[in-house]
Amino acid sequence: MKVIIAENYDDMSLKAYEIMKQVVTSKNDAILGLATGSTPIGLYKNMIADYVKGEVSYKNVKSVNLDEYIGQGVGDEQSYVEFMRNNLFNHIDIDLANTDLPSGKAVDMQAECDRYNAKLASLNVDIQVLGIGGNGHIGFNEPNTPFGSVTHVVDLTERTIKDNARFFNSIDEVPTQAISMGIKNVMNAKSILLLASGENKADAIKATVEGPVTESVPASVLQLHPNCYIVVDKAAASKLSK
Ligand code: GLP
Repeated sequence: MKVIIAENYDDMSLKAYEIMKQVVTSKNDAILGLATGSTPIGLYKNMIADYVKGEVSYKNVKSVNLDEYIGQGVGDEQSYVEFMRNNLFNHIDIDLANTDLPSGKAVDMQAECDRYNAKLASLNVDIQVLGIGGNGHIGFNEPNTPFGSVTHVVDLTERTIKDNARFFNSIDEVPTQAISMGIKNVMNAKSILLLASGENKADAIKATVEGPVTESVPASVLQLHPNCYIVVDKAAASKLSK
């Protein structure tokens, strides 16, 4: 694990982009694992800005995403597919046909999990972007998800529903289930870029970086990954011992 401590959110986003830029400039058909949430928005802005400058092209890039809410899809404001289009895909030259997210609207969810797992098995993700939940979740892999898990349907914890309520009109509108890549899928990426900003992530970052590797803190599994960057701002790093 390589921990990089940034001054603030903007600096975190810049440092994260330096790592991402290396991947997308060294391989024009890179495969990106992408994440939603407020944390990676600054990274995506930097990707867009550099694309606009003509520094990078995503024409041959493919992407997969971590997760989606059950019941949400294209056209739904809070769906992760719309998030990705609004915050990244619509502003770069990636072919939408080369982007994929698990579908929250599939009639047969197990079939959708199987489809996504087969897709992930056929790809070699070059870099997987991750945020982190206040309880240490990655994707929507809540505490005590087995490290061997693959794409599955998840019951969201009360804390996650509360944390994500800020994006909805009321807490009652927050979906209670999601479909998420499993921890094993995440760990298969060649490199991992986990971002965290703000004091509300400080406990999760401490447990991830300095705690035992345990299924009760899903992100702690990243200690076992051979090429993992943890880019955090000072507030998120504030509980680290050094
Ligand atoms: C959701 C997403 C995660 C994300 C987390 C943190 O639960 N499924 O992928 O990391 O929120 O979100 P934020 O970055 O907004 O704090």
